[in-house]
Amino acid sequence: MKKLNKAIDQAPSRDAFLQDVWNGLACPQQKTLPCKWLYDALGSRLFEAITVLDEYYPTRTETGLLGEIALEIAKMAGAHARIVELGSGAGIKVRLLLDALDHPSAYVAVDISESALSEATRSLATERPDLQILPVLADYTRPFALPRFEGRGNILGFFPGSTIGNFAPAQAIAFLTQLRRQLGRDALLLIGVDLKKDRAVLERAYDDALGVTAAFNLNLLARVNRELGGDFDLTRFRHKAIWNEAQGRIEMHLVSVAAQTVQVAGRHIEFRQDETIHTENSYKYGIDQFQRMAASAGWSARAAWTDAEDLFSLHLLQA
Ligand code: AVJ
Repeated sequence: MKKLNKAIDQAPSRDAFLQDVWNGLACPQQKTLPCKWLYDALGSRLFEAITVLDEYYPTRTETGLLGEIALEIAKMAGAHARIVELGSGAGIKVRLLLDALDHPSAYVAVDISESALSEATRSLATERPDLQILPVLADYTRPFALPRFEGRGNILGFFPGSTIGNFAPAQAIAFLTQLRRQLGRDALLLIGVDLKKDRAVLERAYDDALGVTAAFNLNLLARVNRELGGDFDLTRFRHKAIWNEAQGRIEMHLVSVAAQTVQVAGRHIEFRQDETIHTENSYKYGIDQFQRMAASAGWSARAAWTDAEDLFSLHLLQA
């Protein structure tokens, strides 16, 4: 039995990375780098390490919640459902869904990290020889093609982890609209959304005592050095995470600890002391607030669940 298809390769190019770095670091008011570039092989591993930290509540909370509601979702999805997961990572959460669903027929895994995608889909294929598995190596923040996949069950999009929070609200609506069109009529979407909470809890989750999140963030500069021949001195940047109450988001930055000049592929970039590179936003939403956003992208709310401590939510939406 074959069943594990070769990954459909829509991987972003080195040139796309270089363009984003040059553009993002050319902006004099606020230097930025898109957070998708955090996930090379090492970055994906560092993120996996974050998910098991004490301070990082989202993964264990969402996983626990998903375990509790999986059968309810399975009932709503029906038999032979076909799952499309965005940002499949190590593929741990989807196993909870697959175990609960009634004979799921296909699993499309979309991820930007080649290593994470191939490792996760390979091990799943040996566990589930009857499941049609379709790995797609792609940056899903840009238009990308989904494979045609066989079957007659409902399409169930799966976007866990609160990765939707990496988009600004207007971009999130555009993304959810594009996803609705891609998944098609009557598709369901199970999406994880982190909730607003105390500043201290949030800031600790994004600046852990062990320094794993700091390493995850700094790896972006290391990746520029590795792949684009940059000369960032990692000892002269430090990680910072702050809750921006007005915007409802956690921001990650890399702070230049001194005035310095960095070179990337022949271009020079000046940093003032304490100037930052903004590397990630992680927006947090109330239940109603998120449902309104989903509605303006054409999704209606079928159900929403939260854990006992109101840390995290899962939403089931219908196109
Ligand atoms: C994978 C995007 C959901 O925003 O919480 C974790 C990434 N960044 N720690 C998040 C992340 C810093 C994470 N997402």
